[in-house]
Amino acid sequence: MSNPTDIAGYLKQHEEKPLLRFITCGSVDDGKSTLIGRLLYDSKRLFDDQLAALTADSKRHGTRGGEIDYALLLDGLAAEREQGITIDVAYRYFDTERRKFIVADCPGHEQYTRNMATGASTADLAVVLVDARKGLLTQTRRHSYIVSLLGIRHVVLAVNKMDLVDYDQRVFDEIVAGYRALAAQLGIERVTFIPLSALNGDNLSAHSDAMPWYQGPSLLEHLETVEVSAQDTRGGLRLPVQFVSRPHQNFRGFAGTIAAGNANVGDEVVVLPAGRRSRVTAIFVGDSETASARAGQAVTLTLADEIDISRGDVIAAADDPPQVADQFAAHLLWMDDAALLPGRPYWLKLGTRTVAATVSEIKHRIDVNTQEHLAAKRLELNEVGYVNLSLDEPVAFAAYVENRTLGGFILIDRHSNNTVAAGTLDFALRRAGNVHWQHLEVDKAARARIKGQPPRVLWFTGLSGAGKSTIANLVDKRLHALGYHTFLLDGDNVRHGLNRDLGFTDEDRVENIRRVAEVAKLMTEAGLIVLVSFISPFRAERQMARARFEEGEFLEIFVDVPLELAEQRDVKGLYRKARAGQIPNFTGIDSPYETPEHAEVHLDAGNHSPEKLAAQVLEKLGLK
Ligand code: ADX
Repeated sequence: MSNPTDIAGYLKQHEEKPLLRFITCGSVDDGKSTLIGRLLYDSKRLFDDQLAALTADSKRHGTRGGEIDYALLLDGLAAEREQGITIDVAYRYFDTERRKFIVADCPGHEQYTRNMATGASTADLAVVLVDARKGLLTQTRRHSYIVSLLGIRHVVLAVNKMDLVDYDQRVFDEIVAGYRALAAQLGIERVTFIPLSALNGDNLSAHSDAMPWYQGPSLLEHLETVEVSAQDTRGGLRLPVQFVSRPHQNFRGFAGTIAAGNANVGDEVVVLPAGRRSRVTAIFVGDSETASARAGQAVTLTLADEIDISRGDVIAAADDPPQVADQFAAHLLWMDDAALLPGRPYWLKLGTRTVAATVSEIKHRIDVNTQEHLAAKRLELNEVGYVNLSLDEPVAFAAYVENRTLGGFILIDRHSNNTVAAGTLDFALRRAGNVHWQHLEVDKAARARIKGQPPRVLWFTGLSGAGKSTIANLVDKRLHALGYHTFLLDGDNVRHGLNRDLGFTDEDRVENIRRVAEVAKLMTEAGLIVLVSFISPFRAERQMARARFEEGEFLEIFVDVPLELAEQRDVKGLYRKARAGQIPNFTGIDSPYETPEHAEVHLDAGNHSPEKLAAQVLEKLGLK
C-alpha cells in the first residue's frame, strides 16, 4: 500500500488484482496440507486470532514438537453437501500484493475422484505433489489424467520433501523426465517443475539456498506470475442467458455471464438454438451502461428486435456462431452410488440450459490409474467413461477444450435431483445432423379416425405373477369384442423376438423398456389402442415411456400385489427357483421393484378377481 490513508484506492487495487484458482492434488503423506498451510501462512494474510489458535493447536495436537504445524490449518474443514453428494473439497482464500488466490484442496484417495473433479472444474492451474523419495505413483497418473480431462492447461509438478533426499538434483531430474513423458501422453501443455520442501519452506515462498542448482521460481512466485491464458475472451460472443429481466413494460434485457468473446453495442447477434438474428442496442454491467463488455463479466443486454428468448438460450456473434447439436461424444465421470445405465433419461445442464438426455452408448470405460480402455455396460461411482450422449433437444455448445462453460455439463437424476455425473463434450456426432424428420401425410389422428377410436397406451406394471397379463388379456378381449383395434405387447412374448438379446440386468431392463415404449409409440401412431404388460420395475423408465406420448394418451396401471402373495401363487415356479439362487436379478428378490407414485389406475390385485380389475380399467378408459 503506497499511501496508507488512501483506503478507497487500496480497496480498488485489491479488487482489481487478478484471481488465480488452483487445485492441489496429492495425498496427505505427500505433505499437501503442510504445503497449503504454509502458503497461507507465508502470505501473511491469516488473521491474528487464526494464528493464535494455530499456535495453540500446534502445541496440543501438532506433530512438530510444539512448532507450528501448518497442516492443522486445513483440518476440520466441514465437508460440503452439495445436492446430496458429500464432496470433501475445501476452498481456501488468500492473497498477496500481486494476486488473489482460491485453492481447492481435495483428498487424494481413489474414491475421491469425484471430489477432485469438482475442485478441478473451475481451476486454472493444478499443483500435483509428489514425494521425492517415492517419485511418480499411480495416483500421480490419476490426478494428472483428471487434470487433463477437465481441461486444466497449467500444471506445477511440486517435487516435495527434497530435504529427505539430501536436495539431490539427480532425484529431481529423474522425476522430471518421467513426468514429461506422462504429460506428453496426456496432452498437458505446460508443466513447471519445482523442487521443494514444504516443511522447511524451501522454494515455497522464497528461493532456497539448499538447492543452488535450481534457478527457477519459488512456488508462490510462480503462482503469482504465471500467465493463465485468457482464452475465453478470444473468438465470438457467447452469452448463455440466465434470466430475462423485465422490470417494466418498456424494458426487456437478457442477463448472464459472458462465456466467451466480447459484446459491443451495435454487434449483430444470433440467438441459438432457434437461430433468430438481431443487434445489441445496450449493455449494462451492474447499474451502469457501457459500450462493450468481455468474457467473465455479468451483463444485461438489450436487442433491437422483439424476439422470443428465454433462459438457456445462447446469444452469440452472428458472424461466428457456435455449433448446435443434439448428439455428442463426451467424457463422463460418474459420481452417484447407483450406476449409470445407458438409455435412462437424466437432466443435462449445460451453461444455463437444462434438457432431457440419455447416454445412448458407453464406448468404453477408462481406468483412471492407467488410462487403459476397458469394455463396460455401466459406469459405477468414480468411474470415467467415453460415451455417446443423446439430447431431447438441440443445444448450442462448444468443445470443452475450447470453452469450459459451453462444453462442460452435469447430469442430474430426475427423481432425486442429485448431481450424478460431470462431463465434457468432445464433439457433435455428425449423424445427428444428417438424419431428418420426414413428414407423414397421413398422420396419427387420421389413422385413428377411420378406426373410430382414440389412440391409447395401457401400461400394466407390477411384479412377476401379479396378474398383469391375465388382466390385460381380459381388457383386450373386451375391447376387441366392442370392435376396437388393439394390440397386446407382453413382456414374455416380446422377449422371444425383438428383445431376445436382452437379459435381466438393470441395463438390459432399461433397454427392454425403451424398445417396447418405441414400439408402443409406433402402434399409437398407427391409431391403435396398445396394451403393454411388462414388469417395468424402474420409475425412470416408466417415466421415459410416458414422456413419449401426448397428455392423456398414456395410462399407467399398477397391478399391486404383496410380494408374499405373488411368491405364494408362483404360477411359473420362478420365485422358487429365484429363492434357490437359480435365477439371479429376480424382481422383488434381488432386483428392485419401484412402486408407482402417480399411476392413473391402481389395482388391488391381492383382494379382487381379475374380472373385477379388468372392469376397473375399462371404466377408467371410458370406452363403451
Ligand atoms: S422387465 O423387468 O424387463 O420389464 P419383462 O416384463 O420384460 O421384465 O419380463 C418379465 C418376465 O420374464 C417375467 O414374467 C418372468 O416370466 C421372466 N423372468 C425371467 N427371469 C426374470 C427375472 N430375473 N426377473 C423378472 N422376471 C424374469
